[in-house]
Amino acid sequence: MRRILVTSALPYANGPLHIGHMLEAVQTDIWVRFQRLCGHDCIYVCADDTHGTPIMLKAQAEGITPEELIATVGAEHRATYRDFLIHHDYFHSTNSEENRELTARLFKALDRGGYIHRRTIRQAFDAEAGMFLPDRYVKGTCPRCSAKDQYGDSCESCGATYAPADLIDPVSVVSGTRPIERESEHLFFRLAAFEPMLREWTRSGALDKSVANKLDEWFDAGLRDWDISRDAPYFGFEIPDNPGKFFYVWLDAPVGYMAASLALANEKKLDWDAWWGPESTAELYHFIGKDILYFHTLFWPAVLEGSGFRRPTAVHAHGFLTVNGQKMSKSRGTFINGRDYLDRLPPEALRYYFAAKLNDGIDDIDLSLDDFVSRFNSDVVGKLINIASRCAGFIARSGGRLATELPEPALYADFAAARSAIAALYESRDFGAAIREIAALADRANQYIDTHKPWVAAKDPARSAEVLAVCTQGLNLFRALMMYLQPVLPNIAAQAGKFLGKPFSHWDEVSTPVLGTALLPYEILATRLDAQAVASLVQPVTQPKATPVTTPPPSTPEKTPSVTAPTEQPVATPEITIEDFTRIDLRTARIVSAELIEGADKLLKLSVDLDGSIRTIFAGIRSSYEPASLVGKHVVVVANLKPRKMRFGVSEGMILAASDANGGIFLVTPDAGAGAGLRVK
Ligand code: 2FM
Ligand code: ZN
Repeated sequence: MRRILVTSALPYANGPLHIGHMLEAVQTDIWVRFQRLCGHDCIYVCADDTHGTPIMLKAQAEGITPEELIATVGAEHRATYRDFLIHHDYFHSTNSEENRELTARLFKALDRGGYIHRRTIRQAFDAEAGMFLPDRYVKGTCPRCSAKDQYGDSCESCGATYAPADLIDPVSVVSGTRPIERESEHLFFRLAAFEPMLREWTRSGALDKSVANKLDEWFDAGLRDWDISRDAPYFGFEIPDNPGKFFYVWLDAPVGYMAASLALANEKKLDWDAWWGPESTAELYHFIGKDILYFHTLFWPAVLEGSGFRRPTAVHAHGFLTVNGQKMSKSRGTFINGRDYLDRLPPEALRYYFAAKLNDGIDDIDLSLDDFVSRFNSDVVGKLINIASRCAGFIARSGGRLATELPEPALYADFAAARSAIAALYESRDFGAAIREIAALADRANQYIDTHKPWVAAKDPARSAEVLAVCTQGLNLFRALMMYLQPVLPNIAAQAGKFLGKPFSHWDEVSTPVLGTALLPYEILATRLDAQAVASLVQPVTQPKATPVTTPPPSTPEKTPSVTAPTEQPVATPEITIEDFTRIDLRTARIVSAELIEGADKLLKLSVDLDGSIRTIFAGIRSSYEPASLVGKHVVVVANLKPRKMRFGVSEGMILAASDANGGIFLVTPDAGAGAGLRVK
């Protein structure tokens, strides 16, 4: 029996969970349920990520304490996970005593090991609010292109990167006043001291190859010291022996994995050291989104190693969720909260769809709503549940008990033999391939029933034994399929097990058919999804809303990247002549490839074809477009823009896009039929 500890990323406690969170939770939950079904000791813990400036300011804005905010949000999160059938062995909070003690313990060990040093930095300070401002909490006019309302680290309009002090007319997002510069001593973690260990760990099987290659780029760029402290006021844990200094939220967040398992160990009298001690032989897996790889594959293993704990066995990253090919966005109406989904639709439909789309890679996963309806209705209701509902009635009419032998044991043996291949696919997180195997078996089960037509034989009383035999075979095939889908559809599978008189408790039980047992009355296991209810999940926003006052996202270890495409229209532009206009060489172009750029949260790297000439263009459109949805699209390009050296490479043009007050970006596209390279005039 393997001993396994599994986590998924801790959601921030500042708002409701959306279905992107659910993608990760479902992926983790399926994997954990599969391990348990195989008889392994597999524990799944998670928690709310409760600290940091955005949570502090949100509580302030709502006139409540941060503790009140995180308690309310925590209760909502628990309920949403529960209703999506996510089974955590423990769901904790990073604002817990276990986490406070463990974070202090790790920090002291790092300090003793010489991995912490102190350095004075200059930072923007809001004198009215009495707080230091993260770069993203300062806005102002770009010093290079004069675009207004830019964040303190980079300009979304021209791509310049700079410090908040370089902004023209800087303003604090918190108080609206002009920030001043102030010095403060910060504590830094010497990440570079762990480079040899990290290089070895990343190639130890802990990461998929593509992710390990990404890390090589980070190694090549050089591992920088990590600023782990923040000044008061800050909602978090005060650093021991450093009054007024708090741990940066990203230091104590992953310690939350340890704290949640400690709370569980205390409650259930389990051996916590067996999971986390340096000699642990348990397996430790973190499921995360690809956007937080840096924290989990560099900082976290280094912090664990430096403080005398074991490192993760593996970090499993997944891609982002898109809806109908678009990044989830409130302004486009493609943002779906978990609770809004649950108010309309059954959790297992989404679990099934996610499973069908998930694999072990980091490509983005699209929830296409039409495909969602047709897959669930056709695969689950039409093919799978249909087997049970067709056979159950005939068996009920023949006495309600299964026959004592199978008419086609070889067919059943084929279904049972598939368990090793399907298990291997679950184990390697290739759930999509597992679902394809199961769906192919479901087709065979339906073919069997269609060939033997029990509904025809049932009309002839002399053929009742045949009807019973065919339906016993059909229900055993159904049972094997439900067993294989148990990690994905836990409630439906449990109900099916009950109906068959024998709940599923171990993966290998599938090797023996159920025979001679009495069936419980059949109750409908799943019904078809209503396409209208599904369509109502996405409501296009028709009335442009006023730009909301938002708190910016917390900063990441990377600087916010630069962008090229303009995202704001100038308010007033001087008149130009027709000659001025004709100096701009606007061309239609076809996007041939689009990629995410590690460390850039706004930019995409595009290759565009101007009918023979391929250009690389960095465009600030990531917030509104998923790379895969762009390939093949025709756009309009400023072809004679002087190439510009950006942080991530040279940009050889600009793509035209419009933006709205909600931050939505809309590419300007030529009418259908236009090829690439046409002059736009
Ligand atoms: O990116 C996020 O949503 C973070 N709250 C994830 C934290 S995961 C772990 F490190 F705690
Ligand atoms: Zn600018």
